[in-house]
Amino acid sequence: MTFLFNSDAKRGAIFARAFAEELPDLAFSMNAASVDPDEVRFLITWTVPDDLARYRNLEILFSIGAGVDQFKTDLVPEHVKIVRMVEDGIVRMMQEYVTLAVLALHRGLLSYLVQQRAGEWCGLPQRQAHERRIGVLGLGVLGTAVLERLKPFGFPLAGWSRSPRTIEGVECHHGETGLRTMVAATDILICLLPLTPETTGFLGDTLLGGLPVGAMLVHAGRGPQLDAHALIEALDSGRLAAAVIDVTDPEPLPSGHPLWRHPKIMLTPHIASVTQPDTAARAVIDNIRRYRAGKDPIGLVDRRRGY
Ligand code: NDP
Ligand code: OXD
Repeated sequence: MTFLFNSDAKRGAIFARAFAEELPDLAFSMNAASVDPDEVRFLITWTVPDDLARYRNLEILFSIGAGVDQFKTDLVPEHVKIVRMVEDGIVRMMQEYVTLAVLALHRGLLSYLVQQRAGEWCGLPQRQAHERRIGVLGLGVLGTAVLERLKPFGFPLAGWSRSPRTIEGVECHHGETGLRTMVAATDILICLLPLTPETTGFLGDTLLGGLPVGAMLVHAGRGPQLDAHALIEALDSGRLAAAVIDVTDPEPLPSGHPLWRHPKIMLTPHIASVTQPDTAARAVIDNIRRYRAGKDPIGLVDRRRGY
C-alpha cells in the first residue's frame, strides 16, 4: 500500500519523516515513476495528474491546498474520495493576513503610503473600531477562524454562508436576502469563498454596488470571483475607498494589468496563506487514521457543491 506525494520535494521530505514515524505500514513515495500504480491508495497533489486512471486502486485524492477548484473532478472516479487541506498552519496564516489587511484598511495605510510618496504630512479622519463593520463572505474553516481573530479589536462582525450558521459575537446571514442585508451594512468586506460556478464573478458590479459608499474589500478567495474592472471602476468613482487583493485571474497577474499600480489597491501574489508541511502532514496522517477507522476524513469534498 502506497501514499504518493506529488508536490515539492522540500515539503515531501517533511511528510516522509512524519509518515515513517506515524504510519510505518504505508509506503511513502515522491516518485510516480517508481511506484507500482496498483499499490497507490492515497495521492496528494495540487492538480489532478493526466494519468490518474493508472492508479486503479486509489481511495483518497488529497489536495495539498485548502481549495479544490483546481481539480478537474470529472476526471476523478466517483468512488475516490476528494479531501481538501484543513490544517492549523493554513488557518493561522490566513488569520494573520486578514488581520493585517483589515487593520491596514481601517487605519488608512494605503492613503498614508500615497502621502508618503508625495511628501505630505497630514493626518486623516479616523473611525473607531466599533464604527467599522466587517462582513465575511464564507463562514467555513477560514472565515470562522478569521472572525475569531478579529473579535478582540471591537469591530462589529457579520458573516454570510450558504447554510445557516451560529457564531457567538457574529451576526450570521445566509441566502440571497441575507447577502443583501449584510453587504449593505459592511464597511470592510472580506471574501473567503471557495471558487464554484455560483461564486465565479461574484464580486462584480451588483455586489460591490450594494456596499455603502467608502467601503473597502479584502479578497483572499480565488481570482475568478472578482470582476477586476468593476472593482477599478468602483475605486475610481470613489464608491469604494480601497482594496487588498491576494488572488487574481490569471495568476501570475500579467504586467501592465491595472490592478498592479492602482493607488487604492494593495496587491499580494497569492500568499495570504500557504500549506505548512509539519501541520499538514499531521492532518493528512490523522485523516488516514480516521478513514481506516471508518470515519469521514476532515475536509471531505461534496462533489455536488464543489467544495
Ligand atoms: P470551507 O469549505 O471550509 O468554507 C467555505 C464557506 O463558503 C462555507 O461557509 C460555505 O457555506 C460558503 N459558501 C460556499 N459557496 C457558497 C455560496 N454559493 N453561497 C454562500 N456561501 C457559500 O473553505 P475554507 O474556509 O477552508 O476556504 C475557503 C477558500 O479560501 C478556499 O476554497 C480557497 O479558495 C481560499 N483560500 C485562499 C488562500 C490564499 O492564500 N489566498 C489559501 C487558502 C484558501 P456553508 O457553510 O453553508 O457550506
Ligand atoms: C490553497 C491556496 O487553497 O493556497 O491552499 O490558495
